[in-house]
Amino acid sequence: MSTPRPPAVGEPMARVEGRAKVTGTAPYAYEHPTAEPLYLHPVLSTVARGRVTAVHTADAELLKGVHAVLTSENAPRLADTQDAELAVLQSEEVSFRGQIVAAVAAQTPETAREAAALVRVDYEERFHDAVLRPDHQDLYTPDEADTGVPADTRQGDVDAALARAVVVVDQTYRTPREHNNPMEPHCTVAFWETLPDRLTLYDSTQGPHTVRAAMATVFGLPPENVHVVAPHVGGGFGAKGSAKAHNVLAGLAARALPGRTVKLALTRRQMFSLTGYRPPTVQRVRLGADSGGRLGALAHDVTELTSRTKEYAELSGLCSRMMYAAPARATSHRLTALDVPVPFWMRAPGEAPGMFALETAMDELAQACGIDPVELRVRNEPGTDPETGRPWSGRHLVECLREGAERFGWHGRDPSPGPHRDGQWLVGTGVASAVYPRLTNPGSVAEIEYADDGRYTVSIGAADIGTGAWTVLTQISAQALDCPVERVRLRIGDSDLPRATVAGGSSGTSSWGTAVHAAARAFREEHGEEPEPGARARAAAPENPDLERYAMYSFGAHFAEVRVHADTGEVRVPRMLGVYSVGRVINPRTARSQLVGGMVMGLSMALHEQGVVDPRFGHVVNGDLAGYHVAANADVGAVEAHWLEETDRHLNPMGAAGVGEIGIVGMPAAIANAAHHATGVRVRGLPLTPDRFL
Ligand code: MOS
Repeated sequence: MSTPRPPAVGEPMARVEGRAKVTGTAPYAYEHPTAEPLYLHPVLSTVARGRVTAVHTADAELLKGVHAVLTSENAPRLADTQDAELAVLQSEEVSFRGQIVAAVAAQTPETAREAAALVRVDYEERFHDAVLRPDHQDLYTPDEADTGVPADTRQGDVDAALARAVVVVDQTYRTPREHNNPMEPHCTVAFWETLPDRLTLYDSTQGPHTVRAAMATVFGLPPENVHVVAPHVGGGFGAKGSAKAHNVLAGLAARALPGRTVKLALTRRQMFSLTGYRPPTVQRVRLGADSGGRLGALAHDVTELTSRTKEYAELSGLCSRMMYAAPARATSHRLTALDVPVPFWMRAPGEAPGMFALETAMDELAQACGIDPVELRVRNEPGTDPETGRPWSGRHLVECLREGAERFGWHGRDPSPGPHRDGQWLVGTGVASAVYPRLTNPGSVAEIEYADDGRYTVSIGAADIGTGAWTVLTQISAQALDCPVERVRLRIGDSDLPRATVAGGSSGTSSWGTAVHAAARAFREEHGEEPEPGARARAAAPENPDLERYAMYSFGAHFAEVRVHADTGEVRVPRMLGVYSVGRVINPRTARSQLVGGMVMGLSMALHEQGVVDPRFGHVVNGDLAGYHVAANADVGAVEAHWLEETDRHLNPMGAAGVGEIGIVGMPAAIANAAHHATGVRVRGLPLTPDRFL
């Protein structure tokens, strides 16, 4: 045996599944080979609220190759319909446009799609309301039992502090409805066995165990009789963070068609009503400061929509509870429930829209005080978490800002707002802070088994949604077992593996890595350094009391250069730079990819993304990639991601935080602030479309 190399944590290891992916041999859900599958195509409601009175299926059924048309009349009954989003085809009620009201199973996807178009649905239509208006009369406070945090917070007397302040910013910021568009659409391949009843899903999901639990509840099966397989996932961004209606539909069809495997791939358009989205936000931010820019008051009041079907609150005000040291602070969240699809996690939910508002307001304050925006943030740095008084496990925002300013060439910048002309282009630079909680979800379990080939098989039901989890968990396993990465064989992406929490909230690496470390420790304690083949150990991630003792957040500083065309208002972003504090970086190669990807998502949010709802019909009129623009190669200029050398000893045995989302947060504000610097035009609503500058 060769001499073991030191553990690979910190090394830029190439993706372990990279070769399989680029050679087309990594199996994605829809590609799961199966003999004579049936293809499922859903029929979606064309009204936003009402009741289905008749479904005419005869024309569809006449089509050659059609096996079944499922409706709420003939679909199998579900055991549990408490989650209204998952109660597919269980009643005639229509709660949003784009809801599943029928589905066709056929021999080919083309036949299923054609037949679905032949299904005619009659409705009794009712009045609907699908558009968020801040003057809604029926605003209510989201339930703490659902969100896990209080909707409102208040410390000190904000009004008095605002009245005392020398400089006040009081502005309202808006972000539009935004839709996740992972490259791989939501896909499920379902198979139902009987005696005993057993459901298998090959699914594109961020959490095999999450989907298993939901399917077990909905179908009334013991969890061990549901099997969810997801070895590779082509992006999720939150939209695949829980079971969705299409999973249930595929399960229903598989159950109705015994012995047949059912394949379902949502179309891009169907994703706009079935897979969650970021709800539009209206955010009032009030800042009161002394002449030196020190905040005396910070208030952040958020109004958003949710669906009548099921509540989801985008917690956009959380960032204002911990970012800056204002003695008087208040935050609030209010919802209005409308006839719209169910919103859900999307790319740094809460922090992404919230920090657009707060960090644009901070730029306005810097302007009003005549203080450099980097310096303004430094002056408002809190020594402990303002909300809880807890010490930070590591707060390095100031280092990020200073290093970012240095690398970006911030010094000597003309602070006055534009126009700053370079020919026909107006040129400016902007900065904003980034933040994302260092989340660790409890309850992951890992198992390690030693094989006679001298390798350790490390098993955990985690998911790699394109993030690099296959690779960093291999590295973490090697570190925990103190062996070279070549001696680790990783197994993830399957609910038959030990329980793992969802790949969401940038929590995967921390949550799963903690479990892997625990299993490695248990393995060494039981089997020592020279184990027998077949030796195995299993352990759950232990509770970490520091999670309650410390305020744990990652931070970052975003800098952007923006050019706005003087005649057309076209906005270009030739340069973005981020410096991050994310604990220890396990794999510089995949971490950089995550951070750069996040920055590009921030760019996309800043310039393009916007679902436009037609209030008459309640649907997104630009619900496809022709109309819903996302940043493409031509939008992206120079992008640099840097990070501090750091280890968070309180967070987990790796000292490493997740890096999936922080790159997004604050980047839209940095770009909007740069656009203001370039043009003198302050835009308080995303996206920064050309008309805003004309
Ligand atoms: Mo991520 S939007 O928290 O799955």
